[in-house]
Amino acid sequence: MIIAIDGPAASGKGTLAKRLALHYGLPHLDTGLLYRAVARTLLDHHDPLGDEALAVRAAQSLDLAHLDETRLRGREMGEAASVVAAIPAVRTALTAWQRQFAARPEGAVLDGRDIGTVICPDAQVKIFVTASAEERARRRHRELAGRGDPTPYEDVLADIRKRDARDSGRTTAPLVAAADARLLDTTDLGIEQAFQAAVAHVEAARREP
Ligand code: DC
Repeated sequence: MIIAIDGPAASGKGTLAKRLALHYGLPHLDTGLLYRAVARTLLDHHDPLGDEALAVRAAQSLDLAHLDETRLRGREMGEAASVVAAIPAVRTALTAWQRQFAARPEGAVLDGRDIGTVICPDAQVKIFVTASAEERARRRHRELAGRGDPTPYEDVLADIRKRDARDSGRTTAPLVAAADARLLDTTDLGIEQAFQAAVAHVEAARREP
């Protein structure tokens, strides 16, 4: 069983994907990490994020199985990842590996922006996770504060709106719900409720012929 989870930044899709993977005993791939790793490589070399040739080379030479997550988290990396993710050739360079991950015999849970539309269009389960920009900003703001980063709420909200616009507005593989995705709006749901709703979606999708 392949479970494809897509949605905007801070929608809760990562947490849900992780919990679904645990619940169903499936491997999990957070595909945002791949784009973050490409951006990290460019930043480490002081290369411009918009340089297509360098970005593609970075994508092709990533050690995808051993990404160091600690260096990829954080506000600036999400923004930088969104910039390199808008380069079509970077996306192409990362496609085969993602599909290979999804092709494991037991299945997999993948989360990102284009899993249900581009990477795994035939996934048995597709969930598009959303929440209002304000609620996502509140969550991200709380999370940053917890990590000792007191970024003002208004700045976090502006970041989220900018990233939504870039991820949804790009021409290649934009952030959009697949036509056959089940929508899960987590604006008014706690983590536990959102997880139960996600499981209900998976079970409903599995019952379909
Ligand atoms: O999910 P995330 O916040 O870690 O993703 C960081 C950026 O990477 C996101 O703003 C857009 C890009 N991304 C993408 O374009 N396609 C994916 N499948 C995953 C992430």
